[in-house]
Amino acid sequence: MNEKRDFDQVAPSWDEEPRRVKLAGNVASSIIGAIHPDQTMDALDFGCGTGLVTLLLRPWVRSILGVDSSRGMLAVLERKVREREMTNVETVCRDLEKDERPAGRFHLIVSSMTLHHLPEPARLFNLFNDLLLPGGLIAVADLDTEDGNFHDDSTGVFHHGFDREKIMAHLLEIGFIDCGAQTADVIVKGTEAAAREYPVFLITARKPS
Ligand SMILES: C[S@@+](CC[C@H](N)C(=O)[O-])C[C@H]1O[C@@H](n2cnc3c(N)ncnc32)[C@H](O)[C@@H]1O
Repeated sequence: MNEKRDFDQVAPSWDEEPRRVKLAGNVASSIIGAIHPDQTMDALDFGCGTGLVTLLLRPWVRSILGVDSSRGMLAVLERKVREREMTNVETVCRDLEKDERPAGRFHLIVSSMTLHHLPEPARLFNLFNDLLLPGGLIAVADLDTEDGNFHDDSTGVFHHGFDREKIMAHLLEIGFIDCGAQTADVIVKGTEAAAREYPVFLITARKPS
């Protein structure tokens, strides 16, 4: 079995990669466009990392909780929150693989680029279902099925992207409604002569009221 990636080690330099910042910006704008978050909403960002998406959504919602299993990634987010004196962002260290879950119920749950690091992504959707308030929304971004070349280091990568249609079918099967998908970003990697494109989907769905 693939071992877990050490995100603590990469945390200090995570935000220095421009394509990650661009991706987070495009994912956050796609979420805002699709969901129209508002100040009545308490949100959760699962696999929030250094908070690239969390902090872009923050002004749109009442509160946002960043959840991640890496204390190093969370420490970077916590430093930003402290330095910018933000009051509506909290963090909590939880590992879904150990069945650890955050307390509380949420109007909106988002997750970006974390699904492919989970051996059993279906468990994440069950968790979201449990943590959502009735009528709550999810917005999940990840790679479309790719050829296995996206990650230079595939430690902790359990899926080479996903078939968005299959994810939507699964969400409908477990009771979500109003499923939709769009392309939030296209990541370009490789040299100019041999560039490869990796589309990133954003799937949104609602828990029935
Ligand atoms: C590729 S990073 C994405 C971070 C952030 N969402 C972003 O867009 O920059 C994946 C994140 O998922 C977290 N993660 C991986 N497995 C996890 C698990 N089992 N439970 C909670 N978080 C997990 C990692 O620690 C890491 O911060």
